[in-house]
Amino acid sequence: MSISFEHVSHIYSKGTPYEYKALTDINLEIEEGKMTAVIGQTGSGKSTLVQHLNALLLPEEGTIHILDRVITAGEKPKKLKSLRGDVGLVFQFPEYQLFEETVLKDVAFGPKNFGVPEEEAQKKAKQALRLVGLPEDVYEKSPLELSGGQKRRVAIAGILAMNPKVLVLDEPTAGLDPKGAVSMMSLFWDLNKKHGKTILIVTHDMEHVFHYCDNVVVMADGRVSLHTNVKEFFKDTSLCKGLNILPPALLRMKDLLKENGFDVPEDVMDETALAKCIARQVKKNG
Ligand SMILES: Nc1ncnc2c1ncn2[C@@H]1O[C@H](COP(=O)(O)OP(=O)(O)O)[C@@H](O)[C@H]1O
Ligand SMILES: [Mg+2]
Repeated sequence: MSISFEHVSHIYSKGTPYEYKALTDINLEIEEGKMTAVIGQTGSGKSTLVQHLNALLLPEEGTIHILDRVITAGEKPKKLKSLRGDVGLVFQFPEYQLFEETVLKDVAFGPKNFGVPEEEAQKKAKQALRLVGLPEDVYEKSPLELSGGQKRRVAIAGILAMNPKVLVLDEPTAGLDPKGAVSMMSLFWDLNKKHGKTILIVTHDMEHVFHYCDNVVVMADGRVSLHTNVKEFFKDTSLCKGLNILPPALLRMKDLLKENGFDVPEDVMDETALAKCIARQVKKNG
C-alpha cells in the first residue's frame, strides 16, 4: 500500500475564461504511519493538493495511489465511498462540511452512512466529541450557532467518528485559541503515534511543524518545491529563511545565542537541552 502522486496536475474551470492550473507535475510519496506537514504561501496549491487524496478533486493529468486504490486522470474513480471512509478530510473552511440540525447528528452522520446502527453511531459521535474537547451542552445545538473554533472541532469530530486510516487536515488549528491549538495538535500526535494513523496536515504554524510532524512538503506556485524530514528541514535556519518562513522560536533563540558568542551544538533541539547547554557555559566562564 502506498500514498503517492505521479505527474499530477489539476486545472480549475477547464475550458472557461477562468481556467487556472493550480497543480503542475506533482510527484510525491507520503510516508504511511507518519505525520506530514504541507506548508507554503496562500494560493500555492496546498488545499488543491490534499483534496485529491479522497478524490474530492480529480487530476487533470497523472495518477494517485492511495492505500490500495488508484485514481487515474480521465477515469471515473471506483469505490469512492469506501475511499472516503478510509481517508477522512477536514476542510479548511469547516462550514462546508457541517449540514445536520444538531452537532450530535452531524458527527453521527458519518458512521451511520457507513451502516453503523443509530445507538452505536451516537456512541462513536460522543466519543469523538469528547476527544476534540467539546462539552455536552453543545451536542443539541445547531452547528451554525457555534463559534469558528467550535465549528472546526465539530468538523474534526465528524471525521474522527469514522475512524479513518488516513487523516487529512487542512489548517485544522486556524480559528482556535493557542491553548486549543496545542491540545488539538496533541490529539493528532496521539492518533499518529499511539493509533498509527497516517496524518497529513496543512499548516502555517512552524511551531506545529517543528514539534509534532515527521516530514514536511513545501508547496510553491502549484509545485512541490521541497520534501524532506522535519529534522533536516530545521537543522539550521537557512532553509526556512531561504523560503521566507519565520523559523521556530527555539531556532531563532539558538541563532541569537550563537551571535552572542555561545557555542550551541546542532543536536540541541529542545528548551531544556538549550538551557543546560547555556548554563554550563555561563558557569564555566563566570
Ligand atoms: N474553485 C476554484 N476555482 C478556481 N481557482 C481556484 C479554486 N480553488 C482554488 N483556486 C486557485 O488555485 C490556487 C491554489 O489554491 P489553493 O489550493 O486553495 O491554495 P492554498 O490552499 O495553498 O492557499 C489559487 O490561486 C486559487 O485562487
Ligand atoms: Mg488552503
